[in-house]
Amino acid sequence: METRQVAFLGLGVMGYPMAGHLARAGHHVTVYNRTAAKAAKWVAQHGGASASSPSAAAAKADLVLMCVGNDDDVRSVALGNDGALAGMKSGTILVDHTTASAQVAREVHAAAKAKGVGFLDAPVSGGQAGAENGKLTIMVGGEADVYARAESALAHYARAVTLMGGPGSGQLTKMVNQICIAGLVQALSEGINFADKAGLDVLRVLDVISKGAAQSWQMENRGKTMFGDQFDFGFAVDWMRKDLGICIAEGRANGAALPVTALVDQFYARLQAQGGGRRDTSSLIRLLREKA
Ligand SMILES: NC(=O)c1ccc[n+]([C@@H]2O[C@H](COP(=O)([O-])OP(=O)(O)OC[C@H]3O[C@@H](n4cnc5c(N)ncnc54)[C@H](OP(=O)(O)O)[C@@H]3O)[C@@H](O)[C@H]2O)c1
Repeated sequence: METRQVAFLGLGVMGYPMAGHLARAGHHVTVYNRTAAKAAKWVAQHGGASASSPSAAAAKADLVLMCVGNDDDVRSVALGNDGALAGMKSGTILVDHTTASAQVAREVHAAAKAKGVGFLDAPVSGGQAGAENGKLTIMVGGEADVYARAESALAHYARAVTLMGGPGSGQLTKMVNQICIAGLVQALSEGINFADKAGLDVLRVLDVISKGAAQSWQMENRGKTMFGDQFDFGFAVDWMRKDLGICIAEGRANGAALPVTALVDQFYARLQAQGGGRRDTSSLIRLLREKA
């Protein structure tokens, strides 16, 4: 394997383990994190180096990867005065793993292209466990030649990496992923609540129907904890609202109707208002358990 000079920007729940896989694979990794203590912890654990800004981290890298929060964070970390592109040389590649809008992906792609830098929007699915186990699904948008040069690095933390089309296509594919999950988690909540009210043994119900047509990742991985009212882990309601907001804005622009997605987004707004923004998205079932 070719050893590369790599930079990773944003060592959150996802970025920290993703950067770790690159170091374990033998690449020279320089990390940047806004809160410097996390970068120091990462270097103590994995070696490599840390830098005090995205541009400084990116300066010597031929491949720069980032995973931050939302559109504004992507703009700041990629395009800001001290942002990654300010430090990158022509011929290098920037990959963004943040779940963001297709519009910001096209903006950063255009700014990168003007500097001779390749850009891929590459949001991920698989959650914290997928990042830690190196089994993420990565949906990529960008140019085929740029993708061909980055793919082997992304494979260090992926089960599947797929180029979906031009700039923004990775983000659009991630939107489809979130649209498919939103209605499903509400249906699963209603099913579990119904089973409970009907006096059935809910865990036996889940066990049997998960072997039939109702089976889903959410049922297998969240069914028991939903019934047990456990939500202190996983993918936060706050992040899901950010993602559904992106989906709804895109649907408004492209004419796709998203009636159930919009409704579930409102249910999540209610959970946020109750102080549940950091709980897992499967906490939707809590609204059905509210007393009148
Ligand atoms: N968690 C999941 O299960 C999951 C699954 C799939 C996709 N995603 C997506 O992946 C992205 C990251 O998620 P996460 O769970 O890793 O989030 P997180 O734990 O909150 O980490 C966010 C990271 O971005 C950094 N950051 C945020 N805004 C910044 C800014 N303006 N400038 C510099 N650094 C900034 C944070 O730095 P600090 O340490 O200083 O705060 C932190 O390192 C999000 O877009 C999320 O929707 C998450």
